[in-house]
Amino acid sequence: MSRIRVGIIGAGGRGIMSFGQLMTTEFADDVELVAMADTNRERAKAGLKFLGVSAEVHEDYHDMVARKDVDAVVVTTPDYLHEEPCVAAFKQKKHVLVDKPLAITGKGCLRVIEAAKRANALLYMGFNLRHDAVLKELKSLVVQNTFGKIYSIQAIEHYDGGRTYMARWNRLKKYSGGLFIHKGSHDFDIINWMMGEARPERVSCFGNVFTLNPKGLPFKPRPGVKPGPTCTACAYLKKCKDALPAIPQRRPAGAAGAVSMMYDEKASNLDGYHRDLCIYLSDKDTHDQGIGIVEYDNGATASHSEYFVTSLTNRRYLIEGTLGHGEGDLHANRVEVRPRWSQEIITHDIKRPVGGHGGADNHMCAEFIQCLKRGLRPSASGIDGAWSVAIGQACELSRAEKRMVRINEVLDVKSSLLKLKR
Ligand SMILES: NC(=O)c1ccc[n+]([C@@H]2O[C@H](COP(=O)([O-])OP(=O)(O)OC[C@H]3O[C@@H](n4cnc5c(N)ncnc54)[C@H](O)[C@@H]3O)[C@@H](O)[C@H]2O)c1
Repeated sequence: MSRIRVGIIGAGGRGIMSFGQLMTTEFADDVELVAMADTNRERAKAGLKFLGVSAEVHEDYHDMVARKDVDAVVVTTPDYLHEEPCVAAFKQKKHVLVDKPLAITGKGCLRVIEAAKRANALLYMGFNLRHDAVLKELKSLVVQNTFGKIYSIQAIEHYDGGRTYMARWNRLKKYSGGLFIHKGSHDFDIINWMMGEARPERVSCFGNVFTLNPKGLPFKPRPGVKPGPTCTACAYLKKCKDALPAIPQRRPAGAAGAVSMMYDEKASNLDGYHRDLCIYLSDKDTHDQGIGIVEYDNGATASHSEYFVTSLTNRRYLIEGTLGHGEGDLHANRVEVRPRWSQEIITHDIKRPVGGHGGADNHMCAEFIQCLKRGLRPSASGIDGAWSVAIGQACELSRAEKRMVRINEVLDVKSSLLKLKR
């Protein structure tokens, strides 16, 4: 195969700064970026200018996926807009790399898997965490039976997400499915991956907007002077410890500067997309702290905690097995093993490769290309995407309805699509 001709749908942070950059630099010998689709033409043009590429811009992704000179499509639109572009691309027999989550419902995930099957095309699930050096080491220890039979896993995420997530579309369930899908699908996938053949059955979840509400404002507003609506326009810009204004000249140079250029006034005026809505006053319906608990069909249990108001950025995965305890720490770049019946602590210090998300984005892109060129199987499939979304969706339902939710309420677990060979 000569260079793979790629089109990107969604010229935003991921579309331009991650996949766009990688495909036009590190992987430029393998990939040619031929088209970009975004409802916001100005943003797409600014993104392409940043990449230094003269690809064609389409406002309607249907026009892009219909092009004969597009072999594969990368989907980086907001989460609620993954299902339709994927299905449209498969109808045109294109291969697809879709960023997480696969869709925002279990049903939507199955629809995408079925479309891929009909097209006999590659559905590459963009779970970059599977390519994280720490988690790859942890998984290889699991495969070597270091921990014995796994009976529990804890995933803990600390991320000061308020300032980025809660300030834009991600803060609304209708766009993200809720943070247990938007963010948690990463972690539920890692838990499922470590669990091996076990499948999730029941979920309970708790969470709320504990801090990022009007009462949590980190300053006292003056009478008659309301904060917001954006950081840029806010009367308390200098006072607010969470202020992250989006205007270009106040942003640093380099990558962050380029992102703000894509969201400058000209682009924002077209679609009203602001990335700096006040995180305390927004109409958000997603939580800023929560915990989801899962029971698997072999009796194993798991939990995933999300802390989005914090000074720490880290993900940790704790594995309990019949032969020992394991811990992967993405911030410390370390895996620890504590064998049972021993005081020993075996430490694996991990050297991370360079690149986005600790080099994971680069590895994921490389694998996608190899899947297309050499017919390799992807390390994460649409089926993995569906199971993780189903847990996230069950969490959101459990949280909203204050009850335990069975996975089969949100995913047809008997579907033959979930048994397809990857
Ligand atoms: N894997 C990861 O680590 C990771 C990290 C961040 C985001 N993501 C995922 O990447 C995706 C994009 O997130 P982002 O932060 O880059 O978002 P973004 O808001 O920066 O970009 C989204 C782009 O999609 C465009 N868009 C909206 N509707 C469209 C449509 N109908 N057709 C074409 N384009 C349309 C928007 O105009 C915008 O330019 C999300 O699904 C998110 O969950 C993944």
